[in-house]
This record gives sequence, structure tokens and C-alpha cells, in this order.
Amino acid sequence: MPDRSGRAREEKDVRAISTSTSTVSVGIHDISTATGHYALPLETLAAQQGIDPQKFLVGIGQEAMSLPAEDEDPVTLAASAAAPILARHGAENIRTVLFATETGVDQSTAAGVYVHSLLGLPHTARTVELKQACYSGTAALQFAANLVARDPSQQVLVIASDIARYALDSGGEPTQGAGAVAMLVAADPAVLELDPFSGVYTRDIPDFWRPNYLSTALVDGKLSIRAYIDALTGAWRDYREHGGRAFEDLATICYHQPFTKMAVKAHVALAEVAGQPVEKDVAAAQLADTLHYNRLIGNSYTASMYYGLASLLDHREDLAGQAVGLASYGSGSVSEFFSGTVRDGYRSHGRAAETRAGIEAREVIDYARYRELHEREVPVDGGEHELPRVTRAPFRLAGYSGHRRLYERNA
Ligand code: CAA
Repeated sequence: MPDRSGRAREEKDVRAISTSTSTVSVGIHDISTATGHYALPLETLAAQQGIDPQKFLVGIGQEAMSLPAEDEDPVTLAASAAAPILARHGAENIRTVLFATETGVDQSTAAGVYVHSLLGLPHTARTVELKQACYSGTAALQFAANLVARDPSQQVLVIASDIARYALDSGGEPTQGAGAVAMLVAADPAVLELDPFSGVYTRDIPDFWRPNYLSTALVDGKLSIRAYIDALTGAWRDYREHGGRAFEDLATICYHQPFTKMAVKAHVALAEVAGQPVEKDVAAAQLADTLHYNRLIGNSYTASMYYGLASLLDHREDLAGQAVGLASYGSGSVSEFFSGTVRDGYRSHGRAAETRAGIEAREVIDYARYRELHEREVPVDGGEHELPRVTRAPFRLAGYSGHRRLYERNA
């Protein structure tokens, strides 16, 4: 947060940063998004459930949710998010593809392998899938940074892609969403240079989970909010103990956003622990630029915090040279707090127009159509199933055959 007291950065922090062992500047060189084809306004859900829409609009801070088309899944969303990065930077330096998701489509093959194929990436690359609820995109980013630090000529494609799906009429239903964020991690990054220190936290908590045999998540909502805050403050303390920046030196913080009000709750709690308490409305104002996209697309699990980062970069013009915090949380639970410095000229590398266009292009549906889509399940008979041609995204799921998913470039 801006240094309201005007106090100079503590000597300890300066020392911690300048004695960092990293000699290579590594971070996010490009960031690109994709979301689902359909949108359900939360006012429609509130009307159907006979509740005050303000509970959703104000109480949880959500306006709409993205939903995938019949021929979209986490793989097609991921490929659609990553394609513009390859168009801009080429693929020849990509040696690793890290796919973070909690909506995996296969127990064996990494979803990233399908993305690798759809994008025509070089065969001389490793590809792997990472899972730990909404946190694994951050694990992927940190692993990627380390690979690049070891060999700065290499680039890593990190993709976080998820479809958040809860049971109909459950408490979690209004927080559903869908989206993917792809990031190119490279040396001398154009967008965000990552700090070499971070804070981490793991604790076995049954706040949210999805057994292999269920297509909707299970959650203890109230416990999950407490678990998020406990894990995050634990990661923050660890971040500070490992040389992390002072709270007041961060221009703002991008939080994991299962719903945007959760980011505000987390910020109030973190500010308290950091000894810089803020009221709720001040916290909401401090985070406002990070919340625009998530408010419209809903929870995109692994992609959610990175949608927050994209929102910040697209809505703030004065971030060059400033440090931002990133607060990642994945139920179950793992949290990581880390930070980075926004690079000069970051605005000229932004993709605000594309992200807004993706959100605005969604087809708004009514409750009956939403319900029909929600009730669809993946066929398990191993037969031939052709899917309707709906999505306008560059890649689609054409159907199923012999228990395999058939992907194709959209004509
Ligand atoms: N006008 C304005 N505000 C209203 C209102 C109205 N008419 N009616 C209610 N509200 C407010 C409430 O006061 C409450 O605000 P506060 O939390 O600030 O007090 C808010 O709306 C929500 O109301 P409830 O708590 O009564 O809502 P709920 O019981 O339906 O549950 C929820 C909310 C627990 C978040 C539920 O949506 C849920 O289970 N969501 C899924 C789990 C989740 O997202 N957890 C977050 C942490 S876990 C995580 O981050 C990982 C992940 O991605 C899942």
C-alpha cells in the first residue's frame, strides 16, 4: 500500500532485496486471458431463487458468471488464452509447458499435452499438469521462474485454466465461473519482474474439495473463508521472515478472488496483521483496479488471481517501477504470498482490449438455458458423441470417441 506515513522503507527490507541471490531478472513477459462463451447475470439467478440481488451484487461482489459452451472445456479455454502469446512471441524458446487446473480432464495425460498439440508447440518441450485447488497456477509460475533463472535463454508457458462448478441451488452456485490465463515466463520480462523471495503455507483443512467421482465441488463455505484468511496471513508472515517487502511498500495486492468481496475481506485481515489496519470501504477502494474482470466472470479457480493481475495492469496507468503483492490461496489448503515490480512500458504490452472483448462477446443466457447447460454431464459410455458447434473461440472440443476427447481448431 502507498506509504501513508511517508516513512522510508525499513533498512531491513532494502538489505533483504539487495542481497538477493538472483542475478537474472525473471518474470511475466506476456499475459493473456480467455473466458467461457456464455454469461449468466446474477440478477437472473437471484430472481429465480427469490432472493435480493444485492446479496450477490454487493454481499459477495459479483455481477455475472461465465459458463463454457457445450464445445469448450479447460483445454480449449487454455489454448485460446495462450494462442495470442505465441502469435506475438513465437514458440521457439518455449521448453516447458505448465498447466495448472483443478478441472483436469484425464487422470493420466496432462491437459497441457492437448494444448501443446493444438498450439503446434515444438516437440522439444516438457509438459506437465499441476494440481492444488486454486493455488497451482502460482506453483507453476514459481517453478517456471526457477527454470528460467537456471537457463535464461529458455521460456516457460504457464497456463491456469478452470471451470468452477457447484451443485444447483447450493451456496457456492453464485460464485461459479470459467476462465484461463496464460503467461509467458522469461528473462528480462516486459510486464512484471518477480521478487526472488516469497512466503508459503500448507495446512490440511477440509474447506473445499472435489472427489474424482463428482463433477461439482463440495465446500464448507464459512470454514473456507476462515481457512483462506488463516493461510494467507500465515504465508504473509513467512514472506516477511524471508525478506519480503513491507506492506506499505506494495502499491496494491492482487488476491485470489473466489468472489470479489473475499479479496476485500482478506485485505482487511492482512492489513491488520501487517499493522496497517484499514476499514472495509478503504480496502475496497485500494483493490478496485484488481476486481473488474473477476466481478464479471466469477471464480476461475487457478486463473482467478491472475485475472486480478490482468485487471490491475489494464486499469492502472501509474504502476511502472512499483511493487505489487500477489496473494494466492488454494483450498485444502496452500497459500503463497509473493511480489514483483511492474516494468517500465508495461502498458504497451497489455491486452486490455482483447480481455474486454472476450468478456463483452459472451452470449447472455436465461435461467432455463443455464439449468440445461448445468445438467449436462460428460458421456461415460465410450461411444461417439459429436458436440454442437457453439464457441467462437479459436479452439473447440469437437466431441468424444472411445473415451477420448477430440479437439480441433475452430473453422
Ligand atoms: N444486501 C447486501 N448484502 C447482503 C444481503 C443483501 N440483501 N444479503 C446478504 N448479504 C451479505 C452478507 O451480509 C454477507 O456479507 P459478509 O460476508 O460481508 O457478512 C454476504 O452477503 C454473503 O452472505 P452469506 O454469508 O449469508 O452467504 P451464503 O451463506 O450464501 O454464503 C459463501 C456465501 C460462503 C461465500 C458461499 O457463496 C460459498 O460457499 N461460496 C463458495 C466457497 C468460497 O468461495 N469460499 C471462499 C474461500 S475458499 C477459496 O477461496 C477457494 C476457492 O476458490 C473456492
